[in-house]
Amino acid sequence: METIKIGLMGLGTVGSGVIEGLKKNQKEISERSGIEFDVSKVMVKDKQKKRMVEIDEKKLVTEPEEIINDPDINLVVELIGGCDLAKDSVLKALDSGKDVVTANKDLIATHGKEIFEKAKENKRNIYFEGSVAGGIPLIKPLQESLAADKIEKVIGILNGTTNYILTKMSDVGYSFDRALEEAQTYGFCEADPTNDISGLDAAYKLAILSYLGFETLPDMKEVYCSGIENVSQRDIQYAKKLGMEIKLLAVGEKEGDGIFLAVVPCMISKEHPIASVKGENNALFVKGNLVDEVMFYGPGAGSLPTGSAVLSDIIKAGKEMFKEPVKELSAGSENNKYKIAPREEFEASFYLRLVVKDKPGVFSEIAGVFGSYGVSLESIIQEKKEDEYAEIVLLTHKTKIKNLDDAIADLEKRENVYELSNVIQVEKS
Ligand code: HSE
Repeated sequence: METIKIGLMGLGTVGSGVIEGLKKNQKEISERSGIEFDVSKVMVKDKQKKRMVEIDEKKLVTEPEEIINDPDINLVVELIGGCDLAKDSVLKALDSGKDVVTANKDLIATHGKEIFEKAKENKRNIYFEGSVAGGIPLIKPLQESLAADKIEKVIGILNGTTNYILTKMSDVGYSFDRALEEAQTYGFCEADPTNDISGLDAAYKLAILSYLGFETLPDMKEVYCSGIENVSQRDIQYAKKLGMEIKLLAVGEKEGDGIFLAVVPCMISKEHPIASVKGENNALFVKGNLVDEVMFYGPGAGSLPTGSAVLSDIIKAGKEMFKEPVKELSAGSENNKYKIAPREEFEASFYLRLVVKDKPGVFSEIAGVFGSYGVSLESIIQEKKEDEYAEIVLLTHKTKIKNLDDAIADLEKRENVYELSNVIQVEKS
């Protein structure tokens, strides 16, 4: 039996999942692949630190070079996270003729092009199944199973922390802070949850999906990103009345020769399969021109689920290593196939919550403002707030965001409009 020696960089949550998964399923993994996988070195920051898994101390190293310059190691598994040390280590590993497996979404989304070029230059391969939605198989299905399709749209719940928070706010009435605290206790947030809450974590994952689905790896600045900080219990209650759920959705949509990429809180009908994704789970809904609609669902983070995704890459890398050297890196091409279209050009329906003066003529004034910018209203709900004020909720028909922004700017100047409390996109696919 062939043996592959692995240099593992990083022994945190995912690294420990890889070691544990390999130990649990060693026999099946070798039998199925015909390869023995031996983790021969593990790079850690601190050799003395207490570990989540048992590891032979002799295998521990602290410098990337101890793995990169080891001629016996054929596969580097990068699970350090972040972009600095990880990028440098991955590029050096490829230069030294080793294949690389990584679960690092920030790295692939931000420096994917440079890394793919480096892999190609060295005739090596790079695998990244664990980088998007943890244990859910998404990368290989997009690269292989859906290789014949033209992907038209993807809608993802790609961040477990925010989905957990929104689920708790909706199902048990938690405040945002209490739900976040609980998510931190369970450990699926990033060490600093800012990127989870702001939508950036999901935006990295959407960028990678765009590379696979639309053959276009965007600059991260081109992915519109808005987090869940402003979603209030009041919006959640209105969503329920309207038969919808609020979810942080990562949406990629092809239109003409452009694609729209955005991570935004959205209202979506309770009937849509993605609306039923609860807690820390992730899901990806894909519309292809042949397959029509498919959805992937499961744990988007966690030690063993993400370890499972990384191990599937390790097995794939192992099998391919004994074949001809690599020609293809992925379903995506090196040059972007589409332009990223500006957010203002995107068309969607919206929910708006406003506090207005409760007196004759105000409804018609507001409707008139929307009408004058070409924004058509679908419905209006009014609730009394206090004394002379009323809270109103408007749903628009599909409108260009530029027109909506202009209407909002106008409304905000009006005396009869006391406050624009929130604006939330409504996803209608
Ligand atoms: N912090 C992420 C989440 C998991 O909450 O989904 C890793 O990307």
